[in-house]
Amino acid sequence: MSAPEAAVMAIEEARVAAPNPIDETLTSRFACRAFCDAPVARQTIEEILRVARYAPSGANIQPWHVYVLTGEIKRSVSAALLEAHETARDDHVSEYKYYASDLPDRYLRRRQEFGRLFYGSLGIHQADAEGRSRQTAKNYSFFGAPVGLIVTIDRRLEVGSWLDLGMFVQNVMLAAAGRGLQSCPQETFAKYHRILRPLLSIPAEQMVVCGISVGKARVQSQDRLMPRADIDEFATFLGFED
Ligand SMILES: Cc1cc2nc3c(=O)[nH]c(=O)nc-3n(C[C@H](O)[C@H](O)[C@H](O)COP(=O)(O)O)c2cc1C
Repeated sequence: MSAPEAAVMAIEEARVAAPNPIDETLTSRFACRAFCDAPVARQTIEEILRVARYAPSGANIQPWHVYVLTGEIKRSVSAALLEAHETARDDHVSEYKYYASDLPDRYLRRRQEFGRLFYGSLGIHQADAEGRSRQTAKNYSFFGAPVGLIVTIDRRLEVGSWLDLGMFVQNVMLAAAGRGLQSCPQETFAKYHRILRPLLSIPAEQMVVCGISVGKARVQSQDRLMPRADIDEFATFLGFED
């Protein structure tokens, strides 16, 4: 090994040995579904959004828009969506399709595993439609979080801008985690765009993509519920020497 290569190796070894705060934030974030009602200041949310806006976006288009809800307006939104969920859920449909109708096997297996772990952790039997519906309903009260975000995108934009939006949403969640807050991204809100639009004065060209609950987790740290496939399942390395 040449001297420069040895130096690079030494730096790499030192880096691996040191705890990395970004890795820590990435791996400790989880979809939180039980929040304390302790308020989160507007200033904190502003700070989160101010750093989240540094998400990259193709041609720097920055396609995101966020409605930040707390207090009375959040309560009105929750009440309206809960009522729709109870009485008219079949009359509502999202403007975009999140899941493929025919999930290829590997993804189908992961979704089944998600169902087993998720409902198992809540003590809800998978065949218990009422129990699952009660769990879905909790989405609409933002799982008790003091702040709820509704994220929209201009419908005239293409799938590339949706990639950008996903990075922005992740940045919001990581910036929240960096401040001791947890979050849950929620596509369940997209279904009720017809109710959200007049309540939040969402312009016609904006499509509701998801919600994000933000607050202090009721349980600060927990064992990871949802596993991830290891890298050999999704990464192909080429040209590396062993
Ligand atoms: C775009 C998006 C939408 C999601 N929508 C919901 C939702 O509506 N309700 C919910 O409880 N979880 C929702 N989740 C959370 C996922 O179920 C969760 O991220 C996944 O099970 C992995 O768990 P983890 O984030 O705790 O690691 C959503 C996640 C993403 C990325």
